[in-house]
Amino acid sequence: MGAEKRGLLITFEGPEGSGKTTQARWLAHRLRERGYPVHLTREPGGTAIGDAIRELLHAHEHADLVARAEALLFCAARAQLVEQVIRPFLAAGGIVISDRYADSTLAYQGYGRGLDLEELRRLNRFATGGLQPDLTFLLDLEVEIGLERRRASGEAWTRLDAMDLSFHRRVREGYRALAAAEPERWVIVDAAQPLEAVQAALREHLLRRLGLEI
Ligand code: TMP
Repeated sequence: MGAEKRGLLITFEGPEGSGKTTQARWLAHRLRERGYPVHLTREPGGTAIGDAIRELLHAHEHADLVARAEALLFCAARAQLVEQVIRPFLAAGGIVISDRYADSTLAYQGYGRGLDLEELRRLNRFATGGLQPDLTFLLDLEVEIGLERRRASGEAWTRLDAMDLSFHRRVREGYRALAAAEPERWVIVDAAQPLEAVQAALREHLLRRLGLEI
């Protein structure tokens, strides 16, 4: 299944309010300006089925959703996105940028909810057919600052945002552990810096790691 991959998959990860969406949009814009074919997507979502699953996952009335069902729903949305959108775009030589991907399941359902990491890795492999990002940016930020930014943004406060601080701290530490374990794929960026400094870091690493000039 991996054989047909040609383009590049770049993912953004991080705790709530770390600026992933803003930076992913900015990067897509810069790459398009440079003439690269870019598809910008997000998880959960990016397909009609994925968007329906997203609504279900974010809704506060589903507070009783159990951790395993939650993990399966995120992975179901991911499987749909990979097969329907990401793989075809990569096969045509394009660059896919995703605002969250499989590492979110390890960070939130693994480190956050306490599900077994190896089982989740198997689930991710099943969902993605083994498709791994070429580069993953971890926008790292203290969880209090991130949640405050998110509150101030006026965006909808989701079922997961509403989890307690210790959950969000485990997610952040989980991300840092994932990045430390696989430094050839991850870049940790200090998301507390001003926007321009974050973008300068992204620019530098894209050039150094992937040879992409933006
Ligand atoms: P966001 O798009 O606003 O970041 O919302 C996605 C939420 O879902 C966020 O709280 C992180 C969470 N999430 C998981 O818990 N597991 C996953 O696999 C993914 C993709 C997201």
